Amino acid sequence: MNASPTPPADNVRRYGPVESGLPPGDTHPYRSGAWQPQVHEFDAWDMPVVGTIPDDLAGVYLRNTENALFEPIKRYHPFDGDGLLHSISFEAGQARYASRFVRTDGFIAEQNARQSLWAGIAEHPSTAIAETGSGARTMMKDNGSTDVVVHQGRALASFYQCGELWSLDPVTLEQSGPTQWNGWFPDGGVSAHQKVDEHTGDLLFFNYSATAPFMHYGVVDRDGNLTNWAEIPTDGPRLPHDMAFTENWSILNELSIGWDEQALADGYWSNTFHRDRPARFAIIPRHGNTDDIRWFEADPTFVLHWGNAYEDGDEIVLDGFFQHNPACRGIERPAAEFKGFESLDINAFESRAHRWRFNLVTGKTSEEQLTDTVTEFPMINGRHAGRRHRYMYEARGAKNLFAFDALLKRDVDTGAEELVEFDPGVFISETVMAPRCGSTAEDDGYLITFASDVNTDRSECVIFDAAALAEGPVARIELPARICSGTHATWAPASALIDH
Ligand SMILES: [Fe+2]
Repeated sequence: MNASPTPPADNVRRYGPVESGLPPGDTHPYRSGAWQPQVHEFDAWDMPVVGTIPDDLAGVYLRNTENALFEPIKRYHPFDGDGLLHSISFEAGQARYASRFVRTDGFIAEQNARQSLWAGIAEHPSTAIAETGSGARTMMKDNGSTDVVVHQGRALASFYQCGELWSLDPVTLEQSGPTQWNGWFPDGGVSAHQKVDEHTGDLLFFNYSATAPFMHYGVVDRDGNLTNWAEIPTDGPRLPHDMAFTENWSILNELSIGWDEQALADGYWSNTFHRDRPARFAIIPRHGNTDDIRWFEADPTFVLHWGNAYEDGDEIVLDGFFQHNPACRGIERPAAEFKGFESLDINAFESRAHRWRFNLVTGKTSEEQLTDTVTEFPMINGRHAGRRHRYMYEARGAKNLFAFDALLKRDVDTGAEELVEFDPGVFISETVMAPRCGSTAEDDGYLITFASDVNTDRSECVIFDAAALAEGPVARIELPARICSGTHATWAPASALIDH
């Protein structure tokens, strides 16, 4: 990777372009507009700021991206894009930005071949040119593009179909390849949505497979030691996407959407919503084994993401986003170019904040819908993860598009919702909550997101006071180039950037 001979400005270094091969004037809805991919990487500092970067904000906001580079073998799906991480770090009122592709084995192989080598999510595996999977434990390319967390001072980029955890410096995005924990890593890979307990430094994770054993759960401590590894014996191959935890328990799930077993037998992947199959929850002590699992059942649904869980007397409380139409039946069909992507619209699967209560004494589940408002992609103050929380910060989905056009602060105690809408054509990222240095109140801190404006072809990092959203942003930092929409983000406080 070489620096551009003509950097765009003194405060910006631009690298690349990487190899790419998309058609000129591409109109694919997930390779244009909000999803217009990038081919350059950047370092930037002293960026133009409207307002003031708070001097009591210290840490890093990381966001992953599925960024298309080559035409697919047959049919592109947005989750096929290569991982492109964006990092903006804050210290003493200054911000530094970096962006880098996640150099997975698959990324490097396709860069060398200058073409797509693996079948994507919407393609039959037999179309693949490569003969094996690349890191992911399937025939798919592990693109490290779904999620990112920070553990042991390193950013870990992951892929939702289970793969490696690609390790990067959270600030500079310097890369050191796949993670190993004292020489060990699960044969079945690791799913996206590992959880970091800021109070203990534990990393909680799971994986899943189309063949038995179908799911495992593990814990790695702050020193990189594997301190638990247990099979979660689901009834069959399932599609768990996320997990939750409390101070003492971890919560795995097998929900009512699962792999289509006939499709698996026929050599490809498809999934089916079983409306007669209850949602099942495996609640296991953080360091318990398979025999310690407490199983609970609830109404059939699918849940992409959980907000948080905590212990409340005899009960475990779990907040997440119950899909009221997981099969996306009866939805309005969008324009032709969006066909086949209907289920990527949050509004189509109607996910609403929902609370489950699991009583460890009676074994009973109770549940309630918390709102009529459709949102998803929740974040909380990380200090409250696994502990009682009051606030969740969520995203509203754009119509007919997998993209976010508003953020919502939810008070689960009062039911109050505060919405921040952005101008038409502006799409935001998963919005993190960064506690103010020295804060004690849960919402004493900042909400941080990347906002991309397709009208002006610019992106900004936008910072709000989490307790005063109505006052508008406290700072808007202009990025060196417009960034592509992406999925998951994380906030790591300065204390988490050090390997303990
Ligand atoms: Fe996710």
